[in-house]
Amino acid sequence: ADNDSPYRNQTGYLKKGDIRVMGRKIVVLDTTLRDGEQVPGAKLNLQEKLRIAQQLKTLKVDIIEAGFPISSQGDFEAVRRIAKEVVDGPVITALARAVKADIDAVYESVKEAQKPLIHIVLGVSDSHIQAKLRKSKEAIMQMGVDAVKYAKTLLPEVQYSTEDATRADFEYLWQTIEAAVKAGATIINVPDTVGYAVPEEFGELINKLNYRLKNINDKVLLSVHCHNDTGLATANTLAAVKNGADKVECTLNGIGERAGNAALEEVVVGIRLRADYYGAYTDIATKEIKATSTLVSNLMGLEVQVNKAVTGDNAFAHSSGIHQDGLLKDRGTYEILRPEDVGVESMELILTARSGRHAFKSAIAPFLHGQPSEADFEQLFARFLELADMKKEIYNHDLYHIAEAYYAVRE
Ligand code: KIV
Ligand code: ZN
Repeated sequence: ADNDSPYRNQTGYLKKGDIRVMGRKIVVLDTTLRDGEQVPGAKLNLQEKLRIAQQLKTLKVDIIEAGFPISSQGDFEAVRRIAKEVVDGPVITALARAVKADIDAVYESVKEAQKPLIHIVLGVSDSHIQAKLRKSKEAIMQMGVDAVKYAKTLLPEVQYSTEDATRADFEYLWQTIEAAVKAGATIINVPDTVGYAVPEEFGELINKLNYRLKNINDKVLLSVHCHNDTGLATANTLAAVKNGADKVECTLNGIGERAGNAALEEVVVGIRLRADYYGAYTDIATKEIKATSTLVSNLMGLEVQVNKAVTGDNAFAHSSGIHQDGLLKDRGTYEILRPEDVGVESMELILTARSGRHAFKSAIAPFLHGQPSEADFEQLFARFLELADMKKEIYNHDLYHIAEAYYAVRE
């Protein structure tokens, strides 16, 4: 465990509750390269993983979960290269089950990182203990404690995940967390592994755990990891933030096992837009969101649904004439999030024959060579109406062609 990292053997590079005017800092872990890469058909090669990891650094995520190194030599090598090459920024972690071989593989793959972290997961619900792990509850808890103690002999920072926490008996969940903290875990992660939670109930669970955790160790970070099986991953994550969670686990575009994970862009924008409500902030460079989303989507071959919040193609496209008129008078009427703040060049007004002169004039302006005379404008508008009758919807590229065709005829 000896390299030149200035952070080596120094705990506290993941600090809890860095409070600023905007509220509590929420630590963001991105697991696009681990939970996200579990999506069938979305496998990445080494260079692609490195590219995404570098972009996650530009996005300023606090922690990159780079893979599951015991699963294959390729995964191990990808985590190792990310740990070595993605420097001066994020903590690098990878996943281990609560067994020595997995923990060794994680340690060997992340040890060259400036800020390495070992992530251990072990089931905590009756269904996981009885059907999957097939040992007594006491034996499982001991297995978790032994795993944390072993990981602590390798690195100072260890995250412990209580898999399927939302279907577990609360007192057993708490005893497990208490034992893991006493064994040295520095982050406790509460996964809603099968997307079973509902926001109010999950918020209450986090509130109770936060209260108890503070009483035994006020430096340990409380984290959440929500799946989207009923479409509630973002809502559950935000309910946890409201109730004191210090850290959130997300993926770009919400990709992940089955229906996916909480979408980073939704959680981050949710916190930012309603900082007044959550009393929290993240360090995410939101202007990098669109570029990161596009990179992940292209490299993994997973299209983003058009109406996806924040990163979908239609997230900033306005098609109703009434909305367009309102927007042109004041963007705030129908736009609570500015596209440029998440790296989208501009909102797009999708014009129809009903959009009207005002909307058309403003939409075509960027494609014109200066101010048209009134007669010129009427000719352009007539051409637009003709095309709109045929095509129904007119996009920016259609406006470009209307303008170019008009100039070509005149020259
Ligand atoms: O969903 C889950 O429980 C996980 C853990 C490894 C955190 O992905
Ligand atoms: Zn998961």
